Amino acid sequence: MKVTVVGAGNVGATVANVLATKGFASEVVLIDIKEGLSEGKAMDIMQTSHMLNFDTTVTGVTNDYAATAGSQVVVVTSGIPRKPGMTREQLIGTNAKIVKSVVDQILAHSPEAILIIVSNPMDAMTYLTLKDTKLPRNRIIGQGGMLDSSRFRYYLAEALKEAGYPATPTDIDGMVVGGHADKTMVPLVSLATYRGIPVTQFLSDEAIQKAVEATKVGGATCTKLLGTSAWYAPGAAAAALVEAIALDAKKLIPCCVYLDGEYGEKDLCIGVPVILGKNGVEKIVEVKFSEAEQAKFAESVAAAREVNSKIAGALE
Ligand code: 2OP
Repeated sequence: MKVTVVGAGNVGATVANVLATKGFASEVVLIDIKEGLSEGKAMDIMQTSHMLNFDTTVTGVTNDYAATAGSQVVVVTSGIPRKPGMTREQLIGTNAKIVKSVVDQILAHSPEAILIIVSNPMDAMTYLTLKDTKLPRNRIIGQGGMLDSSRFRYYLAEALKEAGYPATPTDIDGMVVGGHADKTMVPLVSLATYRGIPVTQFLSDEAIQKAVEATKVGGATCTKLLGTSAWYAPGAAAAALVEAIALDAKKLIPCCVYLDGEYGEKDLCIGVPVILGKNGVEKIVEVKFSEAEQAKFAESVAAAREVNSKIAGALE
């Protein structure tokens, strides 16, 4: 399988690196507009291949979209990252133009590709890509829920440790739906478990609420510490989506997808549980939220619609 990663910044390079080490893609093309950046990062990754024992070929190119031709999956990370104090939504003006131009060039060379959108504000960028390309919705997937769910598992494991249970994130099952936005993402406490047992049996309401709030600002917390956006977890999250598609794994993962009546919503891209396989989104899975979660999901939908309403202006 050939995979292209657009943008060789921290997140894009991490996606390429994780894909290489996982070994299921035969070829990964890393492309960026900055002369030499992709070439340098690809070379650096390739020089780990002997030590990390992988046979994936990672190639870096500057703006040469012909080199991406025939990609089955394309991960779009292009755009400016957020700085401390910025919301993801504030990036819309710059990133909408970048994402639109990148997607047009990608599809000119890989018309059958499944697109994974990572650029922020991700829910709006996914919606823009869908509207602009008019591709079937199974081929346009926004990455947010995988990352936010992974952060949720991390913070729940930390809370369990504090409460005296030796949990690690892999012991936890938990999902975050709604928009990939600090205020309005919805960690689903009602469905979160520690080795199959509801976390509510181990943690106080206060400890759960602390984990929920930490999850929601998980990206902002890293941004404050790092001076720029996080990359290891966002990169690994995008690579996990590529893996589910490449291996036709049919995994249940929350992703940002276009809703056409599911969850009672239409004409919107937002995070919900889906089955990911070789066709991209194979199925949108409707699960029951608690009443409080349902109300929060509705708020998240309203916030996402508000950001979408700014897309046309951002492209002018
Ligand atoms: C994050 O949550 C930047 O959206 C990315 O870390």
